[in-house]
Amino acid sequence: MQEALERIKKQCENLIKECQSAEIDELATHLSYGKMLRSKLLLSISGINEDSVNLCAIIELIQTASLLHDDVIDESSIRRGKPSINASFGNKNAIMLGDTLYSKAFYELTKFDTAIAQSVANAVVRLSIGEISDVRLSSSFNTDKNRYLQMCKDKTAALIVAAAECGALLKGLDAQKYRIYGENLGIAFQIVDDILDITQDSSILGKPNMSDFKEGKTTLPYIFLYEHLNDNDRQILLSYFAKELNDAQIQWLKTEMEKCGAITMSIEQVKKYASQSLESIKDENNQKLESIIMQMLKREF
Ligand code: IPE
Ligand code: IPE
Ligand code: MG
Ligand code: MG
Ligand code: MG
Repeated sequence: MQEALERIKKQCENLIKECQSAEIDELATHLSYGKMLRSKLLLSISGINEDSVNLCAIIELIQTASLLHDDVIDESSIRRGKPSINASFGNKNAIMLGDTLYSKAFYELTKFDTAIAQSVANAVVRLSIGEISDVRLSSSFNTDKNRYLQMCKDKTAALIVAAAECGALLKGLDAQKYRIYGENLGIAFQIVDDILDITQDSSILGKPNMSDFKEGKTTLPYIFLYEHLNDNDRQILLSYFAKELNDAQIQWLKTEMEKCGAITMSIEQVKKYASQSLESIKDENNQKLESIIMQMLKREF
């Protein structure tokens, strides 16, 4: 697997070079690679071959493009352990590098079967819709879990579903089972990301922590917290919404979450989606897909 991931990185670099722009080449030197979850997932289903490696490179370009835009939206200054492109070169460069990577990815997708091209392109439609709904939801304190979950399905699960589905399509397997696997994994993965924003150090995350609430993101632990506070404390919570908080205020949030079990309840939800994910592929006899779920459950960044 490690060798295949190196091949994918090399292919990403080739695709960026093919854009034939010194500016893009220069900006791209400031990017780094992430965990490559979507590639690991696709390869775990399809096996490693030229087609699957090339398709993974396309998906990694898309993943990187989505994060370039996400960091503009979230005004985030660190990505994958380095200064984000928006922080170093401004929003305009980050947006256009993102657009270049998206467009190159779509160009390369035309070399694949229609079903594969449509699956990935449709995932980017959903991802973008999810990012818009994330922005809309952050204009006020959202207490609606269903709206939060729908947003997670769109912004995060959609591309993970596409990676799983494309793996199955390349291998001629029953795509529906893998779609269900990907959807539940994707929702769980985003809830873990939202928990880690609260519980993990920035140095381990490779991106800022305690930044969601400041950006107006009422993620699942905050929804649980709201549900369990009395009226007085709810007013305190609401007064902290979408603001830069001091250490004492951050400590108040963490202590109240601890008292009501907001993180524990969120982890229970992660486990529920993880087990639904495992259930969908239980007859497929694929140990690698089981270990992807286990790693997601215990991930630290
Ligand atoms: C980040 O995705 C955005 C979310 C869906 C939470 P990853 O956590 O997979 O980011 P990288 O690609 O490993 O950096
Ligand atoms: C996921 O949301 C972003 C995408 C799916 C593009 P976040 O905004 O939580 O992702 P991070 O935490 O910045 O990686
Ligand atoms: Mg973000
Ligand atoms: Mg975001
Ligand atoms: Mg996040």
